[in-house]
Amino acid sequence: MTKLIRGGTVVSSTGASPADVLVDGEKIVAVLEPGSAIAESAASSADVIDATGKYVIPGGVDVHTHMEIDSAGTTSSDTFETGTTAAAWGGTTTIVDFATQSHGERVREALDARFAAASGNCAIDYGFHMILGDVTDEALKEMDSLVAEGISSFKLFMAYPGVLLSDDRQILQAMQKCSDNGGIVMMHAENGIAIDLLAEQAAARGDTGPKNHGLVRRAELESEATHRAIKLAKVGECPLYIVHLSASEALEEVARARNGGSNVFAETCPQYLYLTLEDHLGAPGFEGAKYVCSTPLRSKHEHHAADLWTGLRANDLSVVSTDHCPFCFKDQKELGLDDFRLIPNGIGGVEHRMDLLYQGVVSGEISLARWVELCATTPARMFGLYPQKGTIQPGADADIVLYDPAATWTISVDNHHMNMDYSAYEGIEITGKVDTVMSRGEVIVSGDAFRGRAGHGKYLERGLSQYLV
Ligand code: URP
Ligand code: ZN
Ligand code: ZN
Repeated sequence: MTKLIRGGTVVSSTGASPADVLVDGEKIVAVLEPGSAIAESAASSADVIDATGKYVIPGGVDVHTHMEIDSAGTTSSDTFETGTTAAAWGGTTTIVDFATQSHGERVREALDARFAAASGNCAIDYGFHMILGDVTDEALKEMDSLVAEGISSFKLFMAYPGVLLSDDRQILQAMQKCSDNGGIVMMHAENGIAIDLLAEQAAARGDTGPKNHGLVRRAELESEATHRAIKLAKVGECPLYIVHLSASEALEEVARARNGGSNVFAETCPQYLYLTLEDHLGAPGFEGAKYVCSTPLRSKHEHHAADLWTGLRANDLSVVSTDHCPFCFKDQKELGLDDFRLIPNGIGGVEHRMDLLYQGVVSGEISLARWVELCATTPARMFGLYPQKGTIQPGADADIVLYDPAATWTISVDNHHMNMDYSAYEGIEITGKVDTVMSRGEVIVSGDAFRGRAGHGKYLERGLSQYLV
């Protein structure tokens, strides 16, 4: 069955223009000039979707999510089904989640478990990165097979000593491996050894509330680790992607490396653009636990968010992902009632990324084209999914969102679809709204109706990053 999306403005990473989009089965087959003979003749036989007044954009690609992961003695509250359904509601049609090899675990076992959890349960297409929590000789060898099988990105941690931290030797070994096999290293760049000392000292002083999570994870310790990761990547001759960057000082490190011609990239996340150490993490009582994530929210007095917007404009930040890692306040965040070190780390937001970034278009921080580039095109390119994903062009998957720029609404726990008992973005007023979402040619969201299903989403075997020089 063909579908014709008619009368809208198609937005790509290079601009916007009126166009009709013809879909056949799961694929886009043509982008047509409105009123052209082909468009008119297609309209007579196709199922026509009216996009008048709407932006027609590629489905969002969120390359950093954590559905149903075990962490801090609990499990993130969105399953693959609930999380991918919420993503769809928010205009995201692809996620790249993580499989985690814990200390002492075999990479293959960790990956198999993740496939089993996701398979048949996702409402949108999905891929995996591999987290290496134990860079052994065996794990290093396994990296080659993974790249060949479509898992071409490896996350390492400079934080969480004794749990996930890789030391500099292990980091360099993994980087050298990626240099050979074409993979890319994603880095959680925080100096975890120094952070753990400061956290112990805070707890010993009796400073046990949530705000201390942000106070001990100092910006200097993010920038130091970012700097070290960049230098190690230079020695290892490996491309580097810094995840969840939040501090201005870390952004400076990335910008310096990029200006020097290094293959260094970074993402930030909506929480660092909208939420702060003082107003959110430092909220009265235990409320701040809702905003515990790592890297942490930064001080509103230090212009981090303004710098991040500048970085997004200037392309020192190439991608916006969510680091969606939701935990309910009740019983989950509450695990750390007496000690901030026990609060599960993570914020849920997979549903709101497209809308929150669109506010940057409304306020003039970024252009319409840059919105699409940051949320769909570049993440697809960065992680080997382009041009199947992240673009509206013939041959691409028909993952298409109709976005209504005139709608206004307010984010709330009462209207979101994520499996969380609070919203980190409660009360934020939004201009613009997802109207229709198509995933591989199937309409899965139409106005207020969800028409998708768990199991529609297919596993994506990814190629190599298309950002390597
Ligand atoms: O707090 C966070 N970011 N939790 C998810 C795990 C990670 O480090 O990305
Ligand atoms: Zn991380
Ligand atoms: Zn994460």
